[in-house]
Amino acid sequence: MTTNQLLKPITETNINGKIHIGGCNTIELAKRYGTPLYVIDEDTIRSVCKDYKNAFKRYPHTKMMYASKALCTSAISKILDSEGFGFDVVSIGEIYTVVKSGIPLTHVLFNGNNKTEEELDYAIKNGIGRISVDNFAEVDLISKIGGKYNKNIDVLLRITPGIECHTHEYIKTGQLDSKFGFDLSQIDDAITKIITEHQNIRIRGLHAHIGSQIFEPKCFHDEIEVLIKEISRIEEKFGIVLDEINIGGGLGVKYTESDLPPSIDEVADVIISSLEHHIDKYKTNPPTLYIEPGRSIISTAGVTLYTIGSMKQVPNMTKYITVDGGMADNPRPSMYQAEYVAEIANDTTGRENEKVTIAGRFCESGDILIKDITLPKAETGDILCVYNTGAYNYSMASNYNKVEKSAMVLVKDGKSDIIVNRETLEDLISHDVIPDRLK
Ligand code: LLP
Repeated sequence: MTTNQLLKPITETNINGKIHIGGCNTIELAKRYGTPLYVIDEDTIRSVCKDYKNAFKRYPHTKMMYASKALCTSAISKILDSEGFGFDVVSIGEIYTVVKSGIPLTHVLFNGNNKTEEELDYAIKNGIGRISVDNFAEVDLISKIGGKYNKNIDVLLRITPGIECHTHEYIKTGQLDSKFGFDLSQIDDAITKIITEHQNIRIRGLHAHIGSQIFEPKCFHDEIEVLIKEISRIEEKFGIVLDEINIGGGLGVKYTESDLPPSIDEVADVIISSLEHHIDKYKTNPPTLYIEPGRSIISTAGVTLYTIGSMKQVPNMTKYITVDGGMADNPRPSMYQAEYVAEIANDTTGRENEKVTIAGRFCESGDILIKDITLPKAETGDILCVYNTGAYNYSMASNYNKVEKSAMVLVKDGKSDIIVNRETLEDLISHDVIPDRLK
């Protein structure tokens, strides 16, 4: 069993009917910091990191890069850095967060299918470790900026390996018709262009990412075969040795009881066995293996606390319970039909169970957080704890309906620290400008 297979943070306990996380009483957290509140359990993050490190020990050329897009804040970056992880980033904002946390950019890999000149300039000027080149236009841009700073740039070529894996349509990325990366048939042209026109670009390896919330380890086996086969073919055709492969992220987590993600050990086993097998088959040197997990690092560590407000029983139909957050702090149910598990965090001793639907507060009928969940009869003022909200919740949050983004606290050993302040009303209008003629 590894941490990604748990539904709740590893420190979650129930003391006198009240949910505690990281040794902190969630009811007191809600009182002290207000709701909605993202709560992140540091021990759970460190436990997953340990799982990854143990699982990949057998292949010592492994480099773990945390995919910051899952949750990018300065404190979270510090934790991952202290665990020896590098960072996979996709924007200047993510790069800036990492840099401002005091982490060297050499530990960072810059991904993305439309990096702007400003972003590439900032990355190259500050000594980014790797850039994953996504398309032909980017090759010219990177070379031009490299020339400006008189730097050689180490790149991986992002390719679409043509692997279909079973996950939601919107979070698949490795299938043939994808907006990301070079098609397999374009790799040779990309390499030819780089080696003939751009001597300041050094191709170090290949990069792919096949999707997210993946439950079938076999997808990684197939992906690695494509990558190793290509590396061997490229060496033979161009005489250049690519000694790095990046297989992306994607390992799934357990959002509901029926989700049964494989353990990190099982996936690592498939990945390493596939590597060994294909290195042997295609006669290549063992490459450095980059992995870029995001969700599986941070999802289980996070919960969101909400206060239950209004309730509505539609005669003979659904009973709605409304919380003080919803699609602006967690857009996943409305975007991907994602399912979550929740519990009432305060003492509900003696209350009967009932089936309800948890609605968000935003002006959108689709703003339903959880459909049909059985909970003890809720009362206004109860605190609802929704599990597994560490990944792709805060990072995808919006100010829809002009609502302030929620605060985030990090809990450990009975202590809680704010790591993201709640937005204020002033924050909400701080970028607004009234032209003189309207004053
Ligand atoms: N590497 C690359 C190149 C990626 O595109 C991604 C995710 C990752 C790594 C990390 O994948 P993970 O380990 O987190 O599955 N917003 C969606 C997920 C989008 C994932 C995008 N790319 C969601 O909420 O499900």
